[in-house]
Amino acid sequence: MSAGASEIATELVQALTGRGAQAGLLGESVQGVQTVIVTEGLSHLPVTERHWRVLDLCKRLYASGVRIVILEYAGAGDFAHTSGLKGLSRTLRQEWPDRSIVTWSLPAGASLSAQAELVLGAIASNAPEADLDAAGASVMEIGAAPGLVQATPADTNVWFVPGGARGVTAACASELARRQAGSTFVLAGRSGITPWPEGLQPATDMKLLRGALISGAKARGEKPALPDIDRQARALLAGQEIRHTLGTIAAAGARAVYLQVDMSDRDSIVATAQQITAEYGPITGLVHGAGVLADGLALKKTRDDVEYVFGPKVEGLANLLAAIDLSQLRHVGLFSSASAIFGNTGQSDYAMANAWLSAVARKLAGQLPAATVKSFCWGPWDGGMVDATLAGHFATRGISLIGLQDGARIFADQILQGDKQDIELLIGDEWAG
Ligand SMILES: NC(=O)c1ccc[n+]([C@@H]2O[C@H](COP(=O)([O-])OP(=O)(O)OC[C@H]3O[C@@H](n4cnc5c(N)ncnc54)[C@H](OP(=O)(O)O)[C@@H]3O)[C@@H](O)[C@H]2O)c1
Repeated sequence: MSAGASEIATELVQALTGRGAQAGLLGESVQGVQTVIVTEGLSHLPVTERHWRVLDLCKRLYASGVRIVILEYAGAGDFAHTSGLKGLSRTLRQEWPDRSIVTWSLPAGASLSAQAELVLGAIASNAPEADLDAAGASVMEIGAAPGLVQATPADTNVWFVPGGARGVTAACASELARRQAGSTFVLAGRSGITPWPEGLQPATDMKLLRGALISGAKARGEKPALPDIDRQARALLAGQEIRHTLGTIAAAGARAVYLQVDMSDRDSIVATAQQITAEYGPITGLVHGAGVLADGLALKKTRDDVEYVFGPKVEGLANLLAAIDLSQLRHVGLFSSASAIFGNTGQSDYAMANAWLSAVARKLAGQLPAATVKSFCWGPWDGGMVDATLAGHFATRGISLIGLQDGARIFADQILQGDKQDIELLIGDEWAG
């Protein structure tokens, strides 16, 4: 039984029935159906819509208990058409341990009948998650302890680092600057560099800052609304963090620039790429660290959640790659996550987005053989989006955190001098299901 309106669904049904199996396009009812083959992942829908539709279909199939086989083209077409659907099945297997869910990758160039043959073979052999076209993509595992810092050859770059002024990417950009003092680092994020108000005590802790802002407002005879105080405190802390990163990079001897850019906004990305090229020259180093979370169980996921998570990470990178001269790139580092490799409860959207990044890294590495292209599938860091609550969850599962300095050194080693063959890197502990 196949679901989805694509040609391969029809082709599969014909191939299956031709072999005496019972198969048909999925209607409203799944009664009597054992396996549903989801072909939506092969469609040419826009990237976020395609991933959302597959997730939504899986949600709707959950109650029926059917086996779900998701088809994708792992490396097909342009970057936007690349797939991160393995991140979905890996997460759903964790959230729905009593369900059978796999993703199979098909070769994009093969004829419909050849693809149908591959799927038939996989069904017959009850294949687990698989690349039906190849030996499968290998993941290079490196622990969370950095090796010796290597001497870096003299090399300067124009680095563009979306998400690089704050969080763990800032630590990585700072380490890069220490090794490439002559380089330019253009960091980008949504936050502004909000100036610190005169007379306000320095603070790095949200609670303390909130308290200080409330006291200050009361002293001025104002009655502050808590959401306004929170917004103000977050903006102040963001501005402080950005200034700190810019200062660290400048202190290392490199040029540090910050641009306020929303990586979910295509027009801003295009304008930013043009501005960087005009002012500093072509972008030769790209580190994509912009990302957000919308954690929640798959059965509760909404289109808004998927759009929110895919906005900066997936749409942002696809738009950026379309806006710059790829042939100038010498180093590319994409900040993916171990959730793309193992799946992670509550992160179906995030795992798909990060698996998509790894697939893009493979495709880009194929296109740019002279460049070093890496997808960094990070385990949890001791910093950035891992707050105390998340850190506690990881501790309970026995997963250790990556120290800021260790992670930054691994990152700089790999992006500057890592083996070009190792594209998808797992950094940190293996996760149990
Ligand atoms: N920390 C970890 O344990 C971990 C593990 C695996 C993977 N990662 C990945 O590593 C990257 C950095 O994570 P982090 O922990 O440092 O998170 P973080 O502290 O929340 O930082 C996220 C960064 O992305 C920027 N950003 C978010 N949305 C953006 C948008 N629409 N446009 C431009 N910039 C945007 C943020 O800046 P503004 O808020 O100013 O926009 C910030 O600089 C993420 O892609 C994350 O998925 C992190």
